[in-house]
Amino acid sequence: MNSRLFSFCGGLTGDWMVTSIRAICGETLPDAERLHIHQGLGNAHEALSSDTKWFLRGVTSNDRYVTRPEKELLVARQAPLGRATATHAALIPIRKSAAWWAMTQDERRALFEEESHHIKIGMDYLPAIARRLHHCRDLESKEPFDFLTFFDFAPGDEPLFDRMLEKLRSTREWSFVDREVDIRLKKV
Ligand code: HEM
Repeated sequence: MNSRLFSFCGGLTGDWMVTSIRAICGETLPDAERLHIHQGLGNAHEALSSDTKWFLRGVTSNDRYVTRPEKELLVARQAPLGRATATHAALIPIRKSAAWWAMTQDERRALFEEESHHIKIGMDYLPAIARRLHHCRDLESKEPFDFLTFFDFAPGDEPLFDRMLEKLRSTREWSFVDREVDIRLKKV
C-alpha cells in the first residue's frame, strides 16, 4: 500500500528547482535551490543534510468537507499529479488561526464553502491544475504548518493558477490563514 506520508525537503537536491519563495502571510521559509519530495517513512532522512534548509511533512487523509455531489464533480473533473506537461508546480504550506480550529465542523464547512466557495472556485480550474492536500496537525513531529498544498500545471496555466489564488485569498476563509508561504517550482 502506498504511504500517506509525504516529506518536502528544501535544500540543494531534488527533482524540482525552486524558482521563488514568497511569504503571503506570517514568517517566510529560508531560500532553497531544490525541492525533494519523498513518499513514505523509508529513507526520507537520507535527503537531510547540512544543506537542508527546511523539512516539512504531511499526510493525505479522508475528506472533511466535501458533499457527495461535490465529490462526484471533483472526481469527474480532476487530473492526477505528474502529467508530462505539468512541468511547473507550487507548494503552499498554510497555517490557520486558533479561531478557525475553535469552530465546530459544521461552522467550518459553512465558512469554507457556503460563504467562501472554496470548492466552487477551485472547480473552475480543473483539470488544468492538479492538486494534493496534506494534513500536518496530527503528526507527532511538531509541524510548523497545518496543511501542505501541492499543485502542478503546464507553464502556460500559471497565470490561471495565480487568478485562482487571488480569488481564494480574498475570501473570508483566508482571513483565518495566519501563515502562508508560496513556493514556485520548475521540473529539473
Ligand atoms: C481543502 C478543492 C485549490 C488550499 C480543499 C477541499 C477541497 C478543495 C474539495 C476540501 C477537502 C476536504 O473535504 O477535506 C480545491 C480545488 C482547487 C483548490 C478543486 C483547485 C485547484 C486550492 C489552493 C489552495 C488550497 C490554490 C491554497 C493556496 C486548501 C486548504 C484546504 C483545502 C488549505 C484545507 C482546508 C481545511 O481543512 O481547513 N480544497 N482546492 N486549495 N484547500 Fe483547496
